[in-house]
Amino acid sequence: MNKINIPKNRIRKLKTFALGGKPYELQNLNSYNKTLIDLCSNDYFGLSRDKDLIQASYEISLLQGLGSGSSRFITGSRPIHQLLESQLAEWLNKEKVLLFPSGFQANIAAIQALANRNSIVIADKFIHNSLLVGVKAAQSKLVRFAHNDLKDLEDKISKFKTNQNSVLIVVESLYSMEGSIAPIQEITKISQKYNVELLVDEAHAIGILGPEGKGLSFNFSDCITMITGTFGKAFGSGGAFIACNSKVGEHLIQTSGAFRYTTALSPALAAGALKSLQKIKSNKEWSVNLLSDSKKWKKEILKHINYPVKGDSHILSIIVGQEEKTILLQKHLEKNGFLAIAIRPPTIPINESRIRLTIRRDLNLDILKNFTSVLKAFK
Ligand SMILES: Cc1ncc(COP(=O)(O)O)c(C=O)c1O
Repeated sequence: MNKINIPKNRIRKLKTFALGGKPYELQNLNSYNKTLIDLCSNDYFGLSRDKDLIQASYEISLLQGLGSGSSRFITGSRPIHQLLESQLAEWLNKEKVLLFPSGFQANIAAIQALANRNSIVIADKFIHNSLLVGVKAAQSKLVRFAHNDLKDLEDKISKFKTNQNSVLIVVESLYSMEGSIAPIQEITKISQKYNVELLVDEAHAIGILGPEGKGLSFNFSDCITMITGTFGKAFGSGGAFIACNSKVGEHLIQTSGAFRYTTALSPALAAGALKSLQKIKSNKEWSVNLLSDSKKWKKEILKHINYPVKGDSHILSIIVGQEEKTILLQKHLEKNGFLAIAIRPPTIPINESRIRLTIRRDLNLDILKNFTSVLKAFK
C-alpha cells in the first residue's frame, strides 16, 4: 500500500486551522441514507435543477464543447460569453461586465485591479475570505471596520487616508454568514465624501435583492467603482462576473492575471447563467415572494427555539453559540429529514457557531411547519 508522509509541521498548521474545534468534514450528499430537505444551499431559486437551464447548457455543449479549452485570449472566448456580458451590462446599467470562472477568482481580480502595495483596504469585519485573499495578493494594508458600523468606517478612513496612499472600501451587500444587509447608500456617501474607491460584493444578493433583483448597489451604482456577483447562487449555474465602467474594465482586461491566465468560463455554465438571467427578468415576483416567505420563516422559527435568529432576508442564522451543541442540532435536524450544516470557527467567530439556513423558492409552508416542530423537539 502506498503511504503518504505528511511533514509534522504541516499537521500542526492544519490543527491550528480547526481552531481547537472539531475538524470539518466534506459533506457527501450521497452518503445520507435518506432524502433530506435542503435548507442550506445557495440555490435560492432552485434554478440549478431547472430543465430550461440544463437544456441550454446541453445544447451549447454539443455545439461548442463542455469546456472552453483555453483562456479568453487564446481560443476560450465564445459568442455566449459576449452575449452574457452584454446582457448583464445592460441589466445592471454598467458599461462593462467581465466573466470569471468563480466568484472567488473575481474577487481576487477586483481587489488587485483597485489596490496595490501603497493602498489601504478598509473592509467590513465580515467580508468573505476571497476578498481577504485578494488584499494579500495585492500586498495592500488591510484595516477592518466593525460590521456595518458607519462611524467606525469613517473613523478608519480619517485615520488611515493620507496624500500618499489610495483607499479602497470593501463590503458585501448581503453578508453570507450573518444574513445582514449593508447600508449601501450611506457607504456610497462616505466613499464620495472622502473620494475613495468602493467595491461591493453582491454574491448573495444578485437576482434577489434590490430593484428587480439587480442587487442592493443598483440605485447607487454610479458611485461604486466595482461590483462583483456570482452565478453559483441565485442563478443556479457557476462562474461569476465583475461590473464596472469601461476604463476600469479595460484596465482589468490588460492587467488582471486572474482574468487573463485562466481557462474561460465553460460555455455550458455561461449558457445556464444567461438562461437564469432571462428567467429572473421575466419572473419578478420570485424575489418578492422569497423575501416575504423568509420573513415568515424567521418569525415562526423564533417562536419555536430559544436561540437568537439573525438575518434580514433569505439567509437566516440560528446562533447556537457552542460548537458541540450546534453539531448536535445539525444531527437532530438530519435525523428528522432536514439538511442544515453547522457553521463553526474559523468561518465565524468562536462561540458564535450557528445553523445557517437558506430559504429557497421551493420551500412551502408545510415544510416550515414540519421544520419548526422538529426544532421545538431539540433539547
Ligand atoms: C460573499 C461571497 N463572495 C464570493 C464567493 C465566491 O463565489 P464562488 O462560489 O462563485 O467562488 C462566495 C462564496 O460562497 C461568497 O459567499
